[in-house]
Amino acid sequence: MALQRASDRIPWIIKYRPRTLADYIDQDEAKNKLIEWIKSFPKVESRAVLLYGPPGVGKTTLVECIARELGLELIEMNASDFRRMQDIERIAITASDKGGLFGRGRVILLDEVDGINARADMGGLEAVLKLIESTRVPIIMTANDPWSPALRPLRNAAISIELKKLSEGNVIRLLKKICSSEHVECDEEALREIARRSEGDLRSAINDLESVSRGSGKVTLDSVRAIIGYRDRERNPFETLGRIFSARSARAARAAAGSTQLDNDMLMQWINENIPAQMQDPEDLWRAYEALSRASVYMGRIIKTGNWDLLSYAIDLMSAGVALAKKSQDRRWVSYRFPEKIRYMAKSKETREIRDQLAQLIASIDHISTATAKKDVIPYLSIIFRNNPVNASKLAIGMHMSDSMIEYLAGPRAKDVLSLVKEFEKRIRLRGSGKEEKAEGRAETKAESETQKRVQRRASREDTARKEAGLDRFIK
Ligand SMILES: Nc1ncnc2c1ncn2[C@@H]1O[C@H](COP(=O)(O)OP(=O)(O)O)[C@@H](O)[C@H]1O
Ligand SMILES: [Mg+2]
Repeated sequence: MALQRASDRIPWIIKYRPRTLADYIDQDEAKNKLIEWIKSFPKVESRAVLLYGPPGVGKTTLVECIARELGLELIEMNASDFRRMQDIERIAITASDKGGLFGRGRVILLDEVDGINARADMGGLEAVLKLIESTRVPIIMTANDPWSPALRPLRNAAISIELKKLSEGNVIRLLKKICSSEHVECDEEALREIARRSEGDLRSAINDLESVSRGSGKVTLDSVRAIIGYRDRERNPFETLGRIFSARSARAARAAAGSTQLDNDMLMQWINENIPAQMQDPEDLWRAYEALSRASVYMGRIIKTGNWDLLSYAIDLMSAGVALAKKSQDRRWVSYRFPEKIRYMAKSKETREIRDQLAQLIASIDHISTATAKKDVIPYLSIIFRNNPVNASKLAIGMHMSDSMIEYLAGPRAKDVLSLVKEFEKRIRLRGSGKEEKAEGRAETKAESETQKRVQRRASREDTARKEAGLDRFIK
């Protein structure tokens, strides 16, 4: 095997990350605004900037380049760090002293603040707001989606600067530069295709360029379509199923089974669920299930013995075996179904996760272990939630429970409790707005941020649960 030079193994996305502003293309408006603001600090409208734009447009890189250019020490922090008290304290101390090491100025980067609330950290948002009020150092926050409701308080406390998606022309120019440094031959229209697919996300454009050139040496339109296009197609189980069921030869069926990202167990579930939709003739059905059950026997043996040589039999049986089970000729269009078993497993996993998060929440409030919370607290809470919606909704608000936690505890009474929660929250907000102006702002922000916290927390949990179950790509 040929020895690889270390520089060959560095992903291009890191290798070609701009170090200086001169290498950082385009984005002049944002660049100038940001530099101007840092230079006028602290005589500025706000001590924080919210730099926003879709993933991969160069937010983090811009801040790094500017800090380097202006000779500032960059204190970088990801929002997830805000869960830990000592990190908040560290950053607060840093923010109270504007001189850096060797008397250099400093700038604080709070990267991806959209993650703050999502990670179930109470007080994270408040901590950042306090920091902005008291800092002697410029604070730059980044976010993908500045309009997410959870970010509203931060948005109000900062000057927003937008990073726009790079134009196709600029993306192409950058890709060309990389190709020439790497001595990779590239066709203009191939780069245009990569740029078009990336939709201004430079991270994915550079990654795609790297996979194509490593995969085929040359960057041509065909190789782009073959490698990136293939990857797109790979993702869709419905298409894979269609190709398996309509295969006329064992080879075609096998190839179809090989073109999916589903793992073999999942693929088997998909096929299992959809055989009856595709086949009506009882004999066809019998043959198809016969083949599938043998595939399942092989899979079981593989797991038991670790003998992966058997895998090709299992795959042949579940693909070709099933495809060729169909002797009758009628070809109908059918809409394939998502496997019930996977849906069910995902659901129960989600439920478990909600219970775990609830236990963590209780544990942090009551200073008990999560095991105790599960064993001794949740069952009683559940009785209250199922029998006394008024008390339940007060508890839910006081404890910052998310809607899914409420649903989990209240079961059939969930609707009652949720509507009471909404009602109470509205009243809290109204009460807040009756006060004098300054207090009003604050009460509103607080109530809002609590509501937002709950909403955001629920959204993020559902996301993770789905992602972990690998369902994200199938659920729209
Ligand atoms: N304006 C730019 N000029 C050159 N390269 C860029 C530019 N913006 C982004 N990049 C490249 O894209 C990658 C992703 O940028 P990054 O700053 O991490 O994006 P974000 O923080 O917005 O998700 C960087 O590693 C860098 O190589
Ligand atoms: Mg970033």
